[in-house]
Amino acid sequence: MIKTLINKIFDKEKSKNLESYHLDLEKKYGAHDYSPLPVVLAKGLGVYLWDVNGKRYYDFLSSYSAVNQGHCHPKLVELIKEQASTLTLTSRAFHNNKLGEYMEYATKLFGYDQLLPMNTGAEGVETSIKISRKWGYLKKKVEPNSAKIIVCDNNFHGRTTTVISFSTDHGSKDFFGPHTPGFIHIPHNDLEALENVLEADDNIVSFLVEPIQGEAGVNVPDENYLEGVRNLCTKYNVLMIADEIQTGLGRTGSLLACGDVRPDILILAKALSGGTYPVSAVLCDSPIMEVIQPGQHGSTYGGNPFAASIAKKSLEIIVEEKLPENAERLGEIFRYNINQYIKTSKIIKLVRGKGLLNAIVINDAPDSKTAWNICLKLRDNGLLAKPTRGNVIRFAPPLVMTEDQLLDCIKIITSTIKEFEPK
Ligand SMILES: Cc1ncc(COP(=O)(O)O)c(C=O)c1O
Repeated sequence: MIKTLINKIFDKEKSKNLESYHLDLEKKYGAHDYSPLPVVLAKGLGVYLWDVNGKRYYDFLSSYSAVNQGHCHPKLVELIKEQASTLTLTSRAFHNNKLGEYMEYATKLFGYDQLLPMNTGAEGVETSIKISRKWGYLKKKVEPNSAKIIVCDNNFHGRTTTVISFSTDHGSKDFFGPHTPGFIHIPHNDLEALENVLEADDNIVSFLVEPIQGEAGVNVPDENYLEGVRNLCTKYNVLMIADEIQTGLGRTGSLLACGDVRPDILILAKALSGGTYPVSAVLCDSPIMEVIQPGQHGSTYGGNPFAASIAKKSLEIIVEEKLPENAERLGEIFRYNINQYIKTSKIIKLVRGKGLLNAIVINDAPDSKTAWNICLKLRDNGLLAKPTRGNVIRFAPPLVMTEDQLLDCIKIITSTIKEFEPK
């Protein structure tokens, strides 16, 4: 009797303010390793998200470009239900009947000989580092334990101990040392700096680069940059590693942001599962991949039949629904309209990006709260986005968005920003 009464009171409290109920639970029982926008989401479909109170939003972040195919894509949901009730994990101690078909599909789609399956993006990056170091010792004949990898200032490649060792962001790196050695920094989009470093050091085995720096604020390099990188890597016998974890799989208006430029090692994650499950992959040709032999690298969950079937379907959706083409077309419309607005704006400096990976730069000090406050207002007005690195707001909706939906979003964005214009 008393128990029932207590339960009733508890339920009433819970529904009175569902949002603060969930916020408080996370705050009390969770590590404070993120600072999410205060909104508690409970449902997603296509380009939309709903909070616990049933309010609908446009998703303009896509979980950092993981949900290119849209939330709960019906084909993925159907496949997941089927595969979850058939077979999920076998470990690589045995073969499974999904991995090979996925590997064949992905390698043919991207034009590489072989694929190594992992789970998170950071693990994909770690894998590429290990492969390129070992390639350096076995193939390039670099002195033992002296391999070096070139990386860019302001990079973002994940959160593992080695990956943060070459971050230039203090928050990501400080007090987590000792850091892994063997990395050389150069500015992004600087071919001269790249050649100077390559010329001076025979121990360099690879150059790890984001085709567009997403976390750093959607920094798009010059038109010929990636081609120049490719040529220099070939000239100095160094592997070009492209981290397409955020830029790949249609996001920037082509299947890969590298376009016609072919990196030696390609890293994919995020949208490789359409936002349903952590799946990453490293692709390269056999003369490089063969440096990894049984027992030398892997993961319990990497390549499991659940992940493999999800990844194959996620790729098929991107191709069948022509998502890269849609991203390219809508991206043009987005930047055109925002640029029209900027002509009379004092609060936005510029819009930059490619396809549907875009950002606006707020005309305010980098440590000001303006970008955050704009995102709060956008939330109130039914659109979810998040600042990245200070006064930059990244805009990256699911690639299944229609033109009408995009125009609706542009209206929300411009009318919200108008509220922040100096009077
Ligand atoms: C370019 C890039 N590389 C690597 C990662 C790390 O991926 P994950 O968070 O799945 O480890 C991210 C994540 O945002 C990323 O944007």
